[in-house]
Amino acid sequence: MSYSEICDKLIHILIKSKFMIKTFPFTLDSLPYAYDALEPVIDKETMEIHHDKHHQAYTDNLNKAAEANVELQTKGLEDLLGSGVPVVKNNAGGVWNHDFFWESMTTPGVSQIENSLKVEIEKAFASVEEFMSKFEAAAMGRFGSGWAWLVKNKVGGLEIMSTANQDNPLVDGLTPLLAIDVWEHAYYLKYKNKRVDYVKAWWQVVNWDKVEERLL
Ligand SMILES: [Fe+2]
Repeated sequence: MSYSEICDKLIHILIKSKFMIKTFPFTLDSLPYAYDALEPVIDKETMEIHHDKHHQAYTDNLNKAAEANVELQTKGLEDLLGSGVPVVKNNAGGVWNHDFFWESMTTPGVSQIENSLKVEIEKAFASVEEFMSKFEAAAMGRFGSGWAWLVKNKVGGLEIMSTANQDNPLVDGLTPLLAIDVWEHAYYLKYKNKRVDYVKAWWQVVNWDKVEERLL
């Protein structure tokens, strides 16, 4: 393995461990782009409220839960996703899932499905179009609030699933590659009750480079 390949591998390990090293006191990271970077697909005001109010609230509430239970203060964020205490599980999921969601997006139209990601998607779903159709069905089929996910299963294959509320596939031993937030707070200002319009427009802002990085 060359020096540059070793460096790439180390960077990848560090990126993958980003969420694992979050511990109490939990902090809200800045968005990896400007609030208006996803316009016109996701408007600036939605991003401001979603990040500064909702994501902040999950962070604050997780800290409050940890202040009340010192055992939680030594655990990593991922350890808390499967907590049997609803307030811990829900707010830990709220923190993790939104960190993941922000990094799953980028400026509209700049990222394409390519290379090994395209190969794996075609292997699992026959075509990119079929994958997108099934992912949209999962996002539309989630009753109430939740998420749709592309995950890598325990034997390395790709699967689509959805979770309720702030539940996270890591709890079931699956590796998240991509997620769309289908809580109304993610789209209601711009798309009102038309979740389908949001889901279909959202493809324009997916950061496929990030998805491929998570796959490797
Ligand atoms: Fe959200």
